[in-house]
Amino acid sequence: MSINVAIDGPAGAGKSTISRRAAQALGFIYVDTGALYRTVGLNALRRGVDLEKPEAIAESVKGISVELKYENGEQAVFLNGENVSAFIRTPEASMAASKVSAVPAVREFLFGLQQDIAAKNDCVMDGRDIGTVVLPHAQVKIFLTASEERARRRYKELIEKGEKVEYENVLAEMKQRDYNDSNRAIAPLRAAPDAITVDTTELSLDESIEKIKNVIKENL
Ligand code: DC
Repeated sequence: MSINVAIDGPAGAGKSTISRRAAQALGFIYVDTGALYRTVGLNALRRGVDLEKPEAIAESVKGISVELKYENGEQAVFLNGENVSAFIRTPEASMAASKVSAVPAVREFLFGLQQDIAAKNDCVMDGRDIGTVVLPHAQVKIFLTASEERARRRYKELIEKGEKVEYENVLAEMKQRDYNDSNRAIAPLRAAPDAITVDTTELSLDESIEKIKNVIKENL
């Protein structure tokens, strides 16, 4: 049986970096499920789907193929055979991902894919509903949070990349996404009852990774 670690939490808690590095340290694959929702969002954007219409979003996943592949431990995501990893990190794709992820047909579409990967591989899988819905039997479940510190970090990242953004907008967008993710009817963002909550607000990135590695080792 494969070993599964589920890491859930809101956007910007450092989840993906921490999960990736913890997976590397353990020799597990890292599965970023947000990339799957982003890919479905990208598909909808490319097709000009009205993101306010859940039926149109549901229709847009019919017949498409979404796959995850690994090269040197790095995850790449494919839409209808095309590697779209470089196109799913834009603000538009983020917002589209948030919208499509609220549609039951989209969650059903990606559910089997995620479970299949976890059944076949030792993995650290991160997302919003991994411990609660996708992998309720994961050996270790972690809920990672970092309160408002997340917006400050995200703002710093964007400024360092040379993007012209206002802190207030970054914070507002993060709050909007958290609100969407926590208030949707299906699979809202929520800690599993048996999840261990780790708040990284006071920790550096290296300290957060160390902490998560220890939590995983202690609970396996
Ligand atoms: O983690 P991320 O920012 O890449 O996620 C993109 C969007 O997908 C985010 O709005 C929440 C959604 N998502 C989800 O609903 N369930 C998951 N397991 C992962 C992401």
